Amino acid sequence: SAPAHELPPPTELPDPADLPADPDLPDPFETFGGEAVERRADWLARRAEILDLFRRYVYGYAPDPPEIETAAERTPGVLDGAATLTEVTISFPDLPADAPSITMALFLPANADPNADTDTDGDSPAETGVPVVLGLNRAGNQVTVADDAVTILGDAPRGARQEFWCVDRILDRGYGFATYFCGELAPDSEDVGGATAGGGSTAGIHATYDAAALPGPPGSEWGTIAAWAWGLHRCVDVLRAVEGVRAHQIAVLGHSRRGKAAVWAGATDERIALVVPHQSGTGGVTLSRANDQESVADITGAFPHWFADDFDAFAGREAHLPVDQHLLVACVAPRPLLDTEGSLDFWANPDLAHESLRAAAPVWTFLDADGMVGDGLLAGDDEISRATAGDLCQYRRDTEHTLNRGYWDAILDFADAHFE
Ligand code: GCU
Repeated sequence: SAPAHELPPPTELPDPADLPADPDLPDPFETFGGEAVERRADWLARRAEILDLFRRYVYGYAPDPPEIETAAERTPGVLDGAATLTEVTISFPDLPADAPSITMALFLPANADPNADTDTDGDSPAETGVPVVLGLNRAGNQVTVADDAVTILGDAPRGARQEFWCVDRILDRGYGFATYFCGELAPDSEDVGGATAGGGSTAGIHATYDAAALPGPPGSEWGTIAAWAWGLHRCVDVLRAVEGVRAHQIAVLGHSRRGKAAVWAGATDERIALVVPHQSGTGGVTLSRANDQESVADITGAFPHWFADDFDAFAGREAHLPVDQHLLVACVAPRPLLDTEGSLDFWANPDLAHESLRAAAPVWTFLDADGMVGDGLLAGDDEISRATAGDLCQYRRDTEHTLNRGYWDAILDFADAHFE
């Protein structure tokens, strides 16, 4: 007989239409089958179950990690000498020849580069490397900095989003910055138009996999968010082996739809040491139940390809979801998560994202981690330290839907608090 807390195989999980309704948030400490989570081992099984439920009903099943091949090109002295750029082309030899590859750009502070020609007097941090922020970008690696050395992907001009990414600040603070362009792996709605309407996605990397070979039943194939997260995992595969990168201190950040991918990537991969979903909204940190901003019907209507096809069965039926987004947050525990939100970014629903964190927080406590301090909400110039922010915190600035230097200062303070 199946061990306690083990889900039936994906093909035997109920159809979305057959799931019972419960307007309350699913309890992190009660399994799908109604058993109590009492010991640490129970939580590990519950975590695996939660992730499978998200695969089956929300994001879809991604293929297993593929064989990868890399080709790297190193350019010292970029960004006025502040960094060494390494561009790594990550390709997949077992996939069809026309499969997309990922071009990851990695900027390491010049003084942390083990091969740099700079003057260091002995005690180089190179022995241990530096922590790295891996950010998923929207329009091409070249938008993150204004430097001719970066390979152009897509139409956007160099440096178009340098105020958004603040790579200079990240490097100044002693961190590396890595990034890849989501559209290189899996094109988004703007690029593929109605071609993917109807759910799931057939574009980019999706086209190179046989959907029938994925583990779930029809309706549960990976959508675009799962593909972007899969791409983040491939970047982590590579980053961990790069000299100068501190492999156990890789943080992942994405904004908005890419924030949804960042939290899915972080929840499913314990190699990711810190998760920063920025204004991730519905399908990210924000709860689906009772969301008076972007509903499941809104998001699956406008962006069906982001999710497993079956997610739209919960449009107007959110209470039937066997998970809600707090359980995804909980799967990051005991690792740290900083949810960054704009107080004027109403569509992302920062208040309901905060509710999600509060409902997830008991899992950190259960695992003997610091978890949430006080009400888990910091803003503006509040001090960010281990004592004020704990492991799980929402940080707000008075902005609409964007990222800027003020957020980065807070994010890097939070990272320092956990990585030092
Ligand atoms: C739309 C969508 C959001 C998403 C956002 C973005 O507004 O409804 O869910 O987060 O686009 O990616 O900027």
